[in-house]
Amino acid sequence: MATNEDQLKKVIAHAKEYGFVFQSSEIYDGLSAIYDYAQNGSELKNNIKEYWWTAMVRMNENIVGIDSAIFMHPTTWKASGHVDAFNDPLIDNKDSKKRYRADVLIEEFIGKIEAKIDKEVKKGIKRFGDDFDVKQFKATNPNVLRNQEKIKAISDPFKEAMSLEDLEGVRQLIIDLEIACPVSGSKNWTDVRQFNLMFGTELGSVAGDAAKIYLRPETAQGIFVNYLNVQKTGRMKIPFGIAQIGKAFRNEIVARQFIFRMREFEQMEMQFFVKPGTEMEWYNHWKDARIKWHKSLGLGEDAYRFHDHIKMAHYANAATDIEFKFPMGFKELEGIHSRTDFDLKAHEEHSGKKLKYFDNEENKSYVPYVVETSIGLDRMFLAILSNALHEEKLEDGSERLVLKIPAPLAPVKVAVFPLTKKDGLPDKARDIIDELKIDYNCQYEEKDNIGKRYRRQDAIGTPYCLTVDHQSIENNTVTIRDRDTMKQDRVAIADLSKIIGEKVNLRNLLR
Ligand code: GAP
Repeated sequence: MATNEDQLKKVIAHAKEYGFVFQSSEIYDGLSAIYDYAQNGSELKNNIKEYWWTAMVRMNENIVGIDSAIFMHPTTWKASGHVDAFNDPLIDNKDSKKRYRADVLIEEFIGKIEAKIDKEVKKGIKRFGDDFDVKQFKATNPNVLRNQEKIKAISDPFKEAMSLEDLEGVRQLIIDLEIACPVSGSKNWTDVRQFNLMFGTELGSVAGDAAKIYLRPETAQGIFVNYLNVQKTGRMKIPFGIAQIGKAFRNEIVARQFIFRMREFEQMEMQFFVKPGTEMEWYNHWKDARIKWHKSLGLGEDAYRFHDHIKMAHYANAATDIEFKFPMGFKELEGIHSRTDFDLKAHEEHSGKKLKYFDNEENKSYVPYVVETSIGLDRMFLAILSNALHEEKLEDGSERLVLKIPAPLAPVKVAVFPLTKKDGLPDKARDIIDELKIDYNCQYEEKDNIGKRYRRQDAIGTPYCLTVDHQSIENNTVTIRDRDTMKQDRVAIADLSKIIGEKVNLRNLLR
């Protein structure tokens, strides 16, 4: 596949053609950065949710799940800091009229220097193999040191300008670094302005009496305001976690790159409540647990990296991103934040209600600290889809498009094909589906030759195709064809459930 951009385009085209993702309201020319999940996409999305929920809630005795409302009391967002601080600094290029996030322009500039360092390191690894000491190389190589100096000379003033909300300082950095607009190529920039990302609406039917409320920009606050309800009714003991999956909304300045940055999206978040002073221990625990969860999918050990934040969110004292190698490069997939007691304390102050936990062992009350894991469901979907799409040349010279989605997450697990439409083969195929369909999402297909049917199922990532032929009627066997190896075996119909389960069961990922 030629370039990264081409690869993303291919993923977008494939997602549409094979019923994964459609542009929202497409018949009206769509709505910017809003997407609908189609028949295969919603299955994949549900499977990702199940993978996360099972790993998070079912497999951890001390984590429970909730489903809180999208609309919350407006004071929630004052307390959380979102009304005052959930802003992005935006800047326009006067020539192209394109709008950018000023901080992202600078971060991308830094990213290019980091890429140069990575390149030097890769060269060393290639040359010296296992003997290559990356740490020592980074500490001594003159090119690397020079580039590290450059990064520091940018990131120090950048960090300071961002934390002081010195927008003129941020603009000056863009000018000093001679960052040009990727569209016009010009350095003709406007001032930097703050832009609040929350969508507002009105509660109540009479406009004059209506209260301004917001569509939640993160699901986490629904957890914080329910923390004591859950702790008491669930008799939870610290440390414990509350998880939820739900929609969040942000009026993103630059909403590009398909479902990577959307204005309506879904988050899978977990807040872990801990004793103050133990938060770094738990922060490291969750960093470790989450990267393991990702790597279990087998998308590649080198597909992930941690990226510690330069600009910390207003609530965090430590924060890192798990970045994934998307077609557009390494980008944030999940955030892990040590949120201190910022949120609970703020809700105490604004609501006037005590949100303290009584620790029996310590015989004292305190406001717990919180470590959060927050992953974008749509980004996880894009990570899986883009990693799965392969164009393969086959031995006979033909080509196939195959989605090598991890089998337990595949939208359709089994496709069943009667070889012909007569001689009782369709009925036999439907009997097999009736047996399997409670455990596995099955699809029946009788149109076109078997080769074409295989191609269609490969393109949506179906791990197994079963063909029912005349022998099936005689001795209750079928051929089973594996998506990845394309090997076919004849097996007893009675063994199908077990054989299929060995590959597509979620247990394989969670074990
Ligand atoms: N509660 C913490 C929080 O919301 P965040 O880093 O702003 O932190 C968490 O968001 C995750 O949500 C991100 O890592 C990303 O995967 C996803 N996310 C954030 N904004 C998004 C958007 N506009 N479109 C799609 N996913 C988004």
